[in-house]
Amino acid sequence: MSDTATVGAVKPRHIAFIMDGNGRWAKKRGMPREYGHRFGVKAFQNVLEHCDKLGLEAVTFYAFSTENWKRPKREVDAILKLMDTYLGECEKKIDDYVFRIVFLGDKAAFDEKRRARMERLEESTKNRTRVLNIALNYGGRDEIVHACNRLLDEKRTSVTEADFATMLYTAASPELDLIVRTGGDLRISNFLLWQAAYAELYFTNVLWPDFGPAEVDAAIAEFSLRKRRFGGV
Ligand code: IPE
Ligand code: IPE
Ligand code: MG
Repeated sequence: MSDTATVGAVKPRHIAFIMDGNGRWAKKRGMPREYGHRFGVKAFQNVLEHCDKLGLEAVTFYAFSTENWKRPKREVDAILKLMDTYLGECEKKIDDYVFRIVFLGDKAAFDEKRRARMERLEESTKNRTRVLNIALNYGGRDEIVHACNRLLDEKRTSVTEADFATMLYTAASPELDLIVRTGGDLRISNFLLWQAAYAELYFTNVLWPDFGPAEVDAAIAEFSLRKRRFGGV
């Protein structure tokens, strides 16, 4: 464990990151947006490694939203290529990873080869307890509608909140404690709408490629000072 792992008294079990600001980071350097995404992957790997050291039970990264398909083809293709490279490396080193990998989102948007790789990664890690969720083609509204359709398929006539949660992409994860958004925008952008119910929110102006272990520790330190009431007193 890193020596910063003990910040604060109450530690989150599950943190989700909205990795925003890659494009602006690249623009500041006079480079195309794709360049920012490349460094965004490095930041993701760095942050993931730190979250592992901190012993988090679950960590979630918002990598590509259902709305991100609206971007220029060149940018979308570059992101998909980075995703292929990363998932390929993951597959080769799967035994070095401690996490159960879960993809949040509708895999139907991806071609057969990509889908098969995603399924292999999920299948080969499914007996691990700590969870790494990677949100790809993910939308919070899409997830809720998807859960409803699964319940309709089962011909259910009534459901509880707990039943509903088992139909969400995050069914394997503990309750969400903290959402961290980089890049300075103060919004959720269709991320974990159901799960965010009582999550703490942390926003920072740091652009994602500049975000690292020290910033994770700062977010956790802030979290530990928050008084969570969950509607009580
Ligand atoms: C986040 O960075 C990465 C993805 C959405 C894929 P952006 O690409 O949104 O970067 P900004 O917000 O335009 O700077
Ligand atoms: C949210 O960032 C999606 C991801 C980080 C994958 P966006 O850049 O897409 O969000 P908006 O457009 O600023 O709301
Ligand atoms: Mg953005």
